[in-house]
Amino acid sequence: MKFGIIGAGPIGATLSHKLHGTGHAVKVADVRSVDHLKNKDFSGQAVPVEEVVKDIDVLILSLPLFVIENLKPIIDQLEKDVIVVDTSNYYPFRDPQVKEIEEGMPESVWVSKQIGRDVVKAFNSQLAYTLAERGKAEHEPGRIGMAVSGNDADQKATVMQIVNEVGFDPVDNGTLENSWRHHPGTPAYCTELSQGDLRDALERADKDAAPKQRDEVGKHFKPGMTHDDVVQLNRQLYKG
Ligand SMILES: NC(=O)c1ccc[n+]([C@@H]2O[C@H](COP(=O)([O-])OP(=O)(O)OC[C@H]3O[C@@H](n4cnc5c(N)ncnc54)[C@H](OP(=O)(O)O)[C@@H]3O)[C@@H](O)[C@H]2O)c1
Repeated sequence: MKFGIIGAGPIGATLSHKLHGTGHAVKVADVRSVDHLKNKDFSGQAVPVEEVVKDIDVLILSLPLFVIENLKPIIDQLEKDVIVVDTSNYYPFRDPQVKEIEEGMPESVWVSKQIGRDVVKAFNSQLAYTLAERGKAEHEPGRIGMAVSGNDADQKATVMQIVNEVGFDPVDNGTLENSWRHHPGTPAYCTELSQGDLRDALERADKDAAPKQRDEVGKHFKPGMTHDDVVQLNRQLYKG
């Protein structure tokens, strides 16, 4: 398949390595200019953002939420059948406050309204280290589950297949409206659960508690915590 990725942070860059490594064509862009990609570690071809949307099957938006808000003119250039994947999360202490999200609109529903196009939410609910280091081959024991939400069944099935290819067991979480179940602060969020446990975690999610738990976790970070310490903390606080 042919992928465009906008954003070469830890998630976008890791996906570029994995997708390029499994034989897909990958183009990577930065919203500001191609110069911003200099000295960054990613795989595939660096292109201007106007080019990244051309002749692709899947566009992955791996950006801070507030950056996506301004992308509509670029997204408008996409062919109709291109799948748009949103990896973003909203953190009010990091991102500018978004009233609709604060009032309960699922983050990727808000994203889809900003860009005037449906999106599939995926790759938002595992840490970048998990994505980079903890993927396993299909049927290998100990595989971690990855939640996927989207309105279009065919698009979601394709994204679930991509999740599988990059080393995780996909879990269908229903529509985009339901994607709050893998927001920050939920039991499914960055807790490295198996496919079966992830299904239970998505069911147990509490929409009102999630933002409070998301804001609480930062207070418990300590210098020198390892990745596994963070996953354990998430499990404890989010009840994953
Ligand atoms: N990191 C994780 O563990 C993780 C896990 C799951 C989901 N997510 C979510 O996935 C998305 C991407 O996260 P990330 O951690 O991979 O990377 P990130 O730090 O959000 O950066 C992603 C890309 O956006 C660029 N960027 C940053 N500020 C920008 C601005 N003002 N204008 C234009 N471009 C800008 C970055 O460039 P520079 O590098 O030059 O700043 C980078 O290329 C976020 O929404 C994040 O919440 C992250």
